Amino acid sequence: MSKKIVLLPGDGIGPEIMAEAVKVLQVVDKRFKLNLSYETGLIGGCAIDEHGVPLASSTLARCQQADAVLMGSVGGPKWDALDSSIRPEKGLLKIRYEMGLFANLRPAILYPQLADASSLKPELVAGLDILIVRELTGGIYFGEPRGIRLLENGERQGYNTYVYAEHEIERIGRTAFEMAMKRDKRVCSVDKANVLEATVLWREVMQSLASEYPEVTLSHMYVDNAAMQLVRAPKQFDVIVTGNMFGDILSDTAAMLTGSIGMLPSASLNKDGKGLYEPVHGSAPDIAGQGIANPLATILSAAMMLRYSLNEAAAAQAIEDAVGKVLDQGLRSADIYSEGMTKVSTQEMGDAVVAALTV
Ligand code: IPM
Ligand code: MG
Repeated sequence: MSKKIVLLPGDGIGPEIMAEAVKVLQVVDKRFKLNLSYETGLIGGCAIDEHGVPLASSTLARCQQADAVLMGSVGGPKWDALDSSIRPEKGLLKIRYEMGLFANLRPAILYPQLADASSLKPELVAGLDILIVRELTGGIYFGEPRGIRLLENGERQGYNTYVYAEHEIERIGRTAFEMAMKRDKRVCSVDKANVLEATVLWREVMQSLASEYPEVTLSHMYVDNAAMQLVRAPKQFDVIVTGNMFGDILSDTAAMLTGSIGMLPSASLNKDGKGLYEPVHGSAPDIAGQGIANPLATILSAAMMLRYSLNEAAAAQAIEDAVGKVLDQGLRSADIYSEGMTKVSTQEMGDAVVAALTV
């Protein structure tokens, strides 16, 4: 039986980078006999244009029935002025929530070939390999009540609610501990337990989980300190586990440490291991349609998809090795270009990965 993948290219550079990822998937499909089949759907601004909403329920239903979803990126200035209830980002939040994708894995890996791309000194980041495990379907992003209300004095007040139930903390905690078991066996749980009760509970639950994973060392850090430590001495971290909003912020910081957000994939998994895979970077509307975007984060997201949702580790590894090879060859898209390297287009980069896979 074929494995069904729903492709959601999205907006901006999304369609361009998706085309390259599909090209790469088709090659590994043949080589590893994966028997993949594809459907394409709309999410984000393009879905608003077509259906009036950023994620149609028919698209969501197809994603729920698929084995995995590969997404490009959503959003752009064209839709910025829309009411917040139908902005492109809402489509992304909806698919995360409705598919129960609570575990967001965001690796921040510095490729040795790109050590100079970081804004930090090379010795601080050489060999960097952090995994941020971000809770993705709870916390202040989804907490109720929320809104903007009118106070008695006629002034408006905006409000959101930071909530975490024990089971939500426990399941993301388990993901982090299990990931750590396959890595350097260190988990740093990031909270704001000196101020927020929701994260006092977060810390307690993480502590109680630790006894089930005696090989893993658990530490705790307040989010402000974690932000500072990430730019001071990032290599101290192995796995970072944190809530939705802190994870949003820290994962961008961690991505920047590598100097090339255009290289970073991500996975969002539910309890059954089904997932949505997407590059960490956004839709880059300023360069959309120019054929200069870096497709590697999407190609590496496809590799994560093979590894985590389709159980095809060898195919995933082959893609990752091929990406390493094209970097070794000195090929660079504009975002990671430095002097002496060969600047390539989106399509040329995809072709180079395909070529590296076929030798
Ligand atoms: C991310 C993005 C999203 C988030 C936006 C687009 C809703 O910043 O995936 O990190 O805040 O989760
Ligand atoms: Mg973000």
